[in-house]
Amino acid sequence: MPLVEDLNTEIARIHPDAFLTIEEFKKSGLYFWLQPVTEVRPDGHVTVEGFGDMIMLGSYSYLGLNQHPAICRAAKEAIDRFGTGTHGSRLLAGTLDLHNRLESEIAGLKKTEAAVTFSTGYVANVAAISTLLRKGDVVICDKMNHASVIDGCLSSQADFVRYLHNDMVSLEHRLREYRDRPKKLVIVDGVFSMDGDIADLPGIHRLCREYGAYLMVDEAHSTGVLGEGGTGIEEHFGMPADTIDVKMGTLSKAIPSTGGYIAGSADLCTYLKHAARGFVYSGAPSAGVIASAIAGIRLIREEPWRIRRLRENAAYFKGLLTAAGFDIGPTETPVVPVMCHDTEKAAYLARYCQRHGVFIHAIYYPTVPKGRARLRAAVLACHSREDLAACADILTAGAKELGILKG
Ligand SMILES: Cc1ncc(COP(=O)(O)O)c(C=O)c1O
Repeated sequence: MPLVEDLNTEIARIHPDAFLTIEEFKKSGLYFWLQPVTEVRPDGHVTVEGFGDMIMLGSYSYLGLNQHPAICRAAKEAIDRFGTGTHGSRLLAGTLDLHNRLESEIAGLKKTEAAVTFSTGYVANVAAISTLLRKGDVVICDKMNHASVIDGCLSSQADFVRYLHNDMVSLEHRLREYRDRPKKLVIVDGVFSMDGDIADLPGIHRLCREYGAYLMVDEAHSTGVLGEGGTGIEEHFGMPADTIDVKMGTLSKAIPSTGGYIAGSADLCTYLKHAARGFVYSGAPSAGVIASAIAGIRLIREEPWRIRRLRENAAYFKGLLTAAGFDIGPTETPVVPVMCHDTEKAAYLARYCQRHGVFIHAIYYPTVPKGRARLRAAVLACHSREDLAACADILTAGAKELGILKG
């Protein structure tokens, strides 16, 4: 039997509700995934093979730091000093002094005793969640948590239950139901990556303390974005730095590198460094990657104007879309869902934008619930007002053709 029997049958097995097969997507000119980018510019433009110059609305480089000269310089110097590989797990041959420095920088930014880094944010979630929980424990998640959180929960031995999105009554119901479990861990995304809304940290924290549950927050979209200093969701709500027990984040969004981290108590981080399989049995991130993350975090701390700029740009873009009659859902952040609801309309609006020089993707079920198809835009600090206005105009022209706008 072939490994992949028939591409369409295999994909349909995973995504039974996909409205087109990969071939049909391609034939209809609706396939825009995996397009090779040949150049990335510091002003939020990219060159894409077959499309040319495009305004990037699909990247998470929130602060526009990706091409920053100080960061590129730090990465080049690190490569000159250590080479391009680490060739081993951190526990054995792989630890560089740079890894320890990065972990101190992360702990400084997140105001924790310590931090531990992983090769990606996905690995950080899976490794940490599966290591922290045992059989008999319970993990309680918001329904809209990221796939990597869900995968971590599924690979743990604990019972995995969910509560209605950002609904404190539903969370309390779950906590009461499982109150006798030895360890209870509530996990929530700080900023929800599809809708751009913010977790109700004060409500969640109060309930966790009342029911004796630990709290883990995935800060992939909140570090570098929320709070005047970009330190994340605790700062946003003016809450103390020990509100969250396990602070997870990525180095691939506002911080322009790759990797993921867990920040928290020294004991937590030491434990994960010796017990988390995604740390113990995986190669260490290489020097250039680590050095660019260190330089990126320093810039976030030294140049808070980028966070203000990001916020102003997001407000400007969202204002344009709302005035044009778009439904942009509950967003409070630079993540902007351009709601189409209908899957086909989302696909065609994405095609319209791509053909007019805007790099943006349609998002469908199962990434978002059925009937909630949308284009998902992310505003960057480096976008110019002219570019954001041009994107809003193109979206509006496409949406008018498809009858998406309100009123
Ligand atoms: C909320 C959230 N958590 C975790 C991740 C995984 O991070 P990484 O891209 O570093 O694997 C992502 C990535 O998109 C994310 O959006």
